[in-house]
Order: sequence, then C-alpha cells, then structure tokens
Amino acid sequence: MANRNDTTLFGVPNKGPIKLTTGAPGIDFLHDVSRIISEATQTLLTGEYGLGGDSSALQYGPRLGAPLFHETLAKFLTEYYGDEVDNKCIVPTAGATHGLHLVASLFFRQNDVIFVEDPTYFIALNILRDDFGMKIVPVACDEGGMIISDLKQKIKEHVKKTTVTDTKPFRAMAYVIPTFHNPTSRIMPKERCEAMVELARQEKLLLFADDVYNLLHYDPAIIKPPSRLYIYDNQQGNVISNGTFSKLLSPGIRTGWIEAAPKLVQLFHDSGVIWSAGASNHYSSCLVATAINMGLVQKHIANLKTQYTESLNKMCDIINKEAPFAQVERPRGGYFLWVKLPKEMDGKEVAKECMEKHNIVVLPGGMCSPIGDCKNYIRISFSHYKPDVLSEATKIVCVALNEVAKRCKASY
Ligand SMILES: Cc1ncc(COP(=O)(O)O)c(C=O)c1O
Repeated sequence: MANRNDTTLFGVPNKGPIKLTTGAPGIDFLHDVSRIISEATQTLLTGEYGLGGDSSALQYGPRLGAPLFHETLAKFLTEYYGDEVDNKCIVPTAGATHGLHLVASLFFRQNDVIFVEDPTYFIALNILRDDFGMKIVPVACDEGGMIISDLKQKIKEHVKKTTVTDTKPFRAMAYVIPTFHNPTSRIMPKERCEAMVELARQEKLLLFADDVYNLLHYDPAIIKPPSRLYIYDNQQGNVISNGTFSKLLSPGIRTGWIEAAPKLVQLFHDSGVIWSAGASNHYSSCLVATAINMGLVQKHIANLKTQYTESLNKMCDIINKEAPFAQVERPRGGYFLWVKLPKEMDGKEVAKECMEKHNIVVLPGGMCSPIGDCKNYIRISFSHYKPDVLSEATKIVCVALNEVAKRCKASY
C-alpha cells in the first residue's frame, strides 16, 4: 500500500536509499523544469490561448489537440527525428502509459494476444495482462529485438485467423521498444524493422512502438536518432509510435502523443473517451508547446544529453575497471545500463547486497523478463541523479558485485 506521506511515486525525494532503479529525471533536473514551466505558464496564460485571447487552453480541448500542440509538436519532432512528422497523424495523450492504455482499450479485448519482447518494460505487462486481462506471449529476442522466426511461430500457435473490421483492424498486437530499449538500451536495426512491418501486414498485427527515449541519444557522431519503426509503415496503419515528454521534461506534466496513420487517428477521434474528455491533457499540452516555441525545451534536452552522456560514460568506465567480470554495453541512448553478470551470479542477490549493506537500490534483471529469465543481469538507471552522485554510487555497486562474485565463486 502506498505511503500517504509520499510526495512522488518513488517516495519522498532525497529520503531513503539511492535509487538506481528510478527511470525518471531527479530533483536537479526537475528544478530546471520548474523554471521552464513557470516561464511558459506566464506566456501561455497571457497569450491568445489565455487572457490575450479566448482562454481556450482551459476549455475542453479539440479531440485531436489544439493547433498550438499538434503543429508545434510536428515541427519539433521533424527537426529532432530528422524524419518528417505530419501533424495530421498526432493524437495527444497523458503520457506513454496513457497511450498504451488508450490503444489497448480501443483496439483490443480481454484474452487478445499481445506479443512482448523478453526482456521488456515490465510495468507494460501489468497494464496489459493484469489491468486488461490480455494474453501475454513472450518472443525470444537477440540484440536486434524480436527474432522474426520465433514471432512467426508464436503467431501460428496463438493467433486465430479472425476477420478484422474497420473499427477493430488487428488480430493481435506486438508491444516493442525499438529505440534505446528499456532495459537493454539496444536499437532495432533497419532490416528487422522492415521484416516486422511486413509480417504485421500479412498477419494483421498492430506494432505498438513505445518510443519514449528516441530523442535522448548520446553518440556525438549521430545527428539524428535511428528512424522509428513507424517510418517503415508508410502510414499504412500497422505501426503506432507512442511518445512522451516524461523523459524529456517532466513525468508529472503527463503529456505525450501518439503518432498513427490517419485512418487510425480517425478511430481515436471517434472514441467515446476522447469525445467525453476532449484532447487528453489539453492544458499541459498547450503549456509544453509554448515552452517549445520559447526554445526552452530544446535547451533542456541539450543539457540532459550532456549530463547523461557524462554519467553513462563514467559509470561504464567504473564498472569495466572495478568489476571487469560484469559486461556492460555502452548505451547509445536511453536511460539504462543493462549489466550482464557471470551466469553463476544472481541479480537478486546483488540487489539484496546493494540494499542491505550499502543503502542503494538496483533492479534485478529477472524483473524485466516476462518469464523470469535474465537472472544474471541488473539494470541501473543513469537518469535520476547528477554524474558525481552516480559515479560514487556505481563504485559502491561494484563493491557489492565483487562481494557477491566472491561468495558464489563466479568464474571470471
Ligand atoms: C518503455 C517505457 N514506456 C513507458 C514509460 C512510462 O512513460 P510515461 O511517464 O510517459 O507514462 C516508461 C517509463 O519508464 C518506459 O520506460
């Protein structure tokens, strides 16, 4: 049960252990966002969506969002993705979680089949399996994402060849994180994206791409992030790109977007939930758009990228030096280090050692697997603290890693 004195999902900030589990910006970053939001609020509420006009930022929003939001967002994303984003393909949401919930409720029913990567973003499983009662089918993955032959086999085993309709156009869904995956931080290569889309067409699948980390890329050689899976769909309606400002700005602002082919956008438009509520999180979406138009979000993202790059590089160097038996792929984007331990080592034991002896929380890899695999992994977030705090914490995690390795006589 939640503690009613908590002020955030993660408890009270700066109280309790160092949480390397937390995939969210921490206090230092959010203080910057407070300043951005304060400035943007002033501009929005005195401008044409506020007192300088019709105060429509405070009205029910148009179902597909105000022009201020979808036009600003399309321009912003086109620039950052380096690929065209059409404002007619955008549906505002209250963040990526809401986007997933909306899609699941609109296009699927209880017992429908959802293919998931193994490992994956574990809370998505709680939404789809526990909240909606859908049937989760894990698909084997390699470093490029779902292995197509395994996906084909699982489709054969689990998906009935039912007739689809204009309003229920899919037989099943695949939930994927193609760019800077959570937890692995890996990228689905072009050929795999093409194969996934081709299969989705043949089998009438929806590919739900949780694109929450795409803009946070750290390779100085890359100007644009890898193209999102959505691009390979050519607006045919088999891929939805699910974006959010939670990682770019603030999770509390609950603002995100779905990017989908116009025929799917029409179905969102016609849904009862959007008719009743109008644009999801209309006010916040206007606020974020205002901050983008003032150039404040862009500056913030640049700062995040600088700090996260410094953090992940320092942390990887520390792990390589202090716990060389642990393998860490240097992420090219995203939020997480996915650390592979010798197979004798259990991530749960490492997490216990970190917590009990050092007051640090890390995530055992098994939690990210729908079938309890990945036992010899831990996930470490580099998003929640500044680089110096993360460096110190990583050194301590390495002490714990060495302790556990010694105990289980890991061969390294
Ligand atoms: C893959 C993935 N999807 C969704 C979310 C939740 O995003 P939001 O805050 O926009 O609901 C997260 C947050 O950790 C995530 O990693």
